Amino acid sequence: MTNKYTIKEKNQGQALLTHQKASNTKKVYIESYGCQMNLNDSEIVASILFDVGFNTTFKMEEADLVLVNTCSIREKAEQTIRKRLEKYNTIKKINSKMKIGVLGCMAERLKEKFLEEEQMVDMVVGPDAYRDLPNLITEIEDGRDAVNVLLSKDETYADIAPVRLNSNGVSAFVSITRGCDNICTFCVVPKTRGRERSRDPKSILREIKDLQDRNFKEITLLGQNVDSYLWYGGGLKKDFKKASKETQNKALNFAMLMDLCASEFPKMRIRFSTSNPQDMKLDVIHTMAKHKNICNYIHLPVQSGSSTVLERMNRKHTREEYIELIDNIRKILPECAISHDMIAGFCGETEAEHLETLSLMEYVKYEFGFMFAYSDRPGTPAHKTMQDDVAEVTKKRRLTEIIQTQQKHSLYRMQEYIGKQWRF
Ligand code: SAH
Ligand code: F3S
Repeated sequence: MTNKYTIKEKNQGQALLTHQKASNTKKVYIESYGCQMNLNDSEIVASILFDVGFNTTFKMEEADLVLVNTCSIREKAEQTIRKRLEKYNTIKKINSKMKIGVLGCMAERLKEKFLEEEQMVDMVVGPDAYRDLPNLITEIEDGRDAVNVLLSKDETYADIAPVRLNSNGVSAFVSITRGCDNICTFCVVPKTRGRERSRDPKSILREIKDLQDRNFKEITLLGQNVDSYLWYGGGLKKDFKKASKETQNKALNFAMLMDLCASEFPKMRIRFSTSNPQDMKLDVIHTMAKHKNICNYIHLPVQSGSSTVLERMNRKHTREEYIELIDNIRKILPECAISHDMIAGFCGETEAEHLETLSLMEYVKYEFGFMFAYSDRPGTPAHKTMQDDVAEVTKKRRLTEIIQTQQKHSLYRMQEYIGKQWRF
């Protein structure tokens, strides 16, 4: 049986392609919000459902099952998803067979609210429970609510081939780690996605080979914190210390994994995201320099240019250490593009601390940045122990200054390319 891919005309933040098999009788519509990891997870979900009779559709009105893969990172992301759930429920009034499921980071946070208080959804499934979807769907088809938000020690979906719903046929995401152990005080991800674990390198290479065979040209190795990748046979990263010396000596870190991928697939362009500065070591930069098929680009979120704010954020490096890392990148990879994430108005941020952020930006002159006003998230260490005390108007003004500084630098960096030729 051949699979048919259909290109969707307008993208509203969900899948660009549908995945079809004639013998599949049901239809699932999936909408994804938030990070690249969520997009890749939706492709894993589509793959699991494809095997149990669901083709994907981009027409919500004809779907038997509507899934929304959610993001909790900022309050605004959650508000957007609530609005979408209201919309699904109006369509459900017309299409009564339609079931609604919430996936991803909001699942863990809001399961009772969705199911019991507001009765907006039939099913709630956390990021580590997607293999359970076929069982959960049977439950809801029998008229019962279904929930699985358990977080796992070793789930990486290593053996599931994502169906590339969101693809342009050239570039694809390959997840290499799940969860995060860093506990940045502002961040809800460790709570919603659980502890960090790495994926078997053999399955990563297999997935890249498959992409190469299907004519893909570029992959992005994905994780909340890719530089922390460590394969020692499976399980949580925090349990590595308990492994035998022999096992520890055979472990594979991120630089080694990239070296392996780049050597094995010299025609594939290799990217990675995201790097936490505290975990990025020089061996990663040297590996980038060694292989011309690893793209000269590092997304290196710093969040703030002030060491005192970084300390409150529990980022385990100072402004000076970050600058040292930037200097090393410039030395080893002179033409490397660098981008950032920045948060304006974190708890207790003074004007002087904000000015340090602007001055760090002046020093680095980033190519690009993702910039946000701080959003207090229930369940995070900052929410429990600090005051969200920077006035909204001040947060907005500081964010505007950060964005304007970035626009100036993006222009400066773009102008540097004028007259240059790049080949691969
Ligand atoms: N390591 C992750 C970071 C996830 S969150 C990754 O793979 O991208 C992405 C970005 O959202 C963070 O770097 C941070 O800048 C921003 N962010 C996270 N929590 C936030 C909050 N509570 N308020 C505002 N921005 C936040
Ligand atoms: Fe969040 Fe910090 Fe991890 S930003 S995803 S806790 S590296």
